[in-house]
Amino acid sequence: MQVDVLLGLQWGDEGKGKIVDVFTPNYDVIARFQGGPNAGHTLEFQGSKHVLHHIPSGVFRKDTINLIGNGVILDPMSFKEEIKGLEEKGIETKQNLYISNKAHLILPTHRLLDLALERQKGKQKIGSTLKGIGPTYTDKVARTGIRIGDIISEDFHSQYNTLKEIHLSLLKSYGLIIEDETIDQLSFNEYEAKWMEAINLISEMKLVDSENFINQKINDGKKVLAEGAQGTLLDIDFGSYPFVTSSNTITAGVCAGLGIAPSKINRVYGVFKAYCTRVGSGPFPTELNDDFGQKLRDQGNEYGATTGRPRRCGWLDLPALKYAIMLNGVTDLVMTKADVFTGFQKLSVCRQYMINNKNVDFSTFNLKQENLECYLHEFEGWNENINQVNDYKQLPANMKKYLDFIENDTGTQISVISTSADRTGIIFKNDQMFN
Ligand code: GDP
Ligand code: IMO
Ligand code: MG
Repeated sequence: MQVDVLLGLQWGDEGKGKIVDVFTPNYDVIARFQGGPNAGHTLEFQGSKHVLHHIPSGVFRKDTINLIGNGVILDPMSFKEEIKGLEEKGIETKQNLYISNKAHLILPTHRLLDLALERQKGKQKIGSTLKGIGPTYTDKVARTGIRIGDIISEDFHSQYNTLKEIHLSLLKSYGLIIEDETIDQLSFNEYEAKWMEAINLISEMKLVDSENFINQKINDGKKVLAEGAQGTLLDIDFGSYPFVTSSNTITAGVCAGLGIAPSKINRVYGVFKAYCTRVGSGPFPTELNDDFGQKLRDQGNEYGATTGRPRRCGWLDLPALKYAIMLNGVTDLVMTKADVFTGFQKLSVCRQYMINNKNVDFSTFNLKQENLECYLHEFEGWNENINQVNDYKQLPANMKKYLDFIENDTGTQISVISTSADRTGIIFKNDQMFN
């Protein structure tokens, strides 16, 4: 049995969490392969809303195994809050949740380093979620990090103190005075004490050699879905560098982040919004700083699930989408949030990038060029509310034209259309997908 992948094709927040939740009944294992608490995956059902950061979005479906892979980085404090939040809602988390002993730990000082680095960058700041992502992956690559499996070793505290000391001297060199800072409204010492308490919770969880665990599941004929975090344009290698995250968010990241061989990968579901959003800094060629942009933000409720920051909004960017489809080997597109366009008289997509009226190829390397322009293709809008529609045939004719155009331009089928934030708002255009 093989592994399917679901990931974001834009700058994150495409609606991955909702779609994983809808797909989960067709899988035995849902596995996260990269990222950490910078992710905020929202799920809505039965009138309640849940936001997940580390825990895979299969957690709400009974009997599904959820795995946090070796490519993920984990913050014990934020993880503990996540578990607590779910348990308060009566969701059983511990029975079916497994964590890789090779996943790296986010230390309190990683959070402060993130802050210090962003401050140092000034106007050039990345707009990081300040969850410690960059510094933790830096330590992983520098071979100085601490892993989940180290928690139960006798010299864990000595490992912690050694790394903390390195961080403290770095922080000093950046001019950050620890006593002047808070983390999640706590002083450093208070936060550190709570962080250590949270470590205890993790040591009670199911810590596994996740690469052996998942390959055994595959050999046993179980169906695995790898859940991406962030999005392709935030990929460390192929995104709009340096305004990216610090992991490989693309399909290739699944192999390294879970220990799955490339030959095991079957379908790749690429999730994209009917328009584009971006939270944080960096180039965004189709960004709308006008009434359309504000309308998208208002109707789409475009505020970050992790930080609450308003998301920047713009038209769908087809050159960027095709680039993401290429990098990931997308077999099926999943479009979310087209319902947000209801009431728009006109809408547009970027069909081609141009410089001085000449077509230019898409490259994340030249996204920052000031004279880069988008050639837009305009569509008639629609007024019908599609939130309750579950049958493709019942979609407004103008929306079908929009979908057809995207399929033709990208050469990739749109197999699933999400019509609302709720679990029930879904259309399967390709009903053979899980066979
Ligand atoms: P993720 O990080 O990719 O999981 O996405 P987020 O949860 O950060 O952001 C997506 C937002 O859109 C969440 O508030 C979802 O509840 C919501 N959402 C997902 N799909 C749809 C949809 O088809 N229509 C609408 N209106 N909202 C959606
Ligand atoms: P999900 O999984 C949207 C953005 C940040 C910032 C940049 C680097 O919910 O789609 P980092 O904290 O990783 O150092 O931030 O990446 N970013 C996201 N944007 N959705 C996310 O995750 C994101 N995770 C990070 O805003 O611009
Ligand atoms: Mg999100």
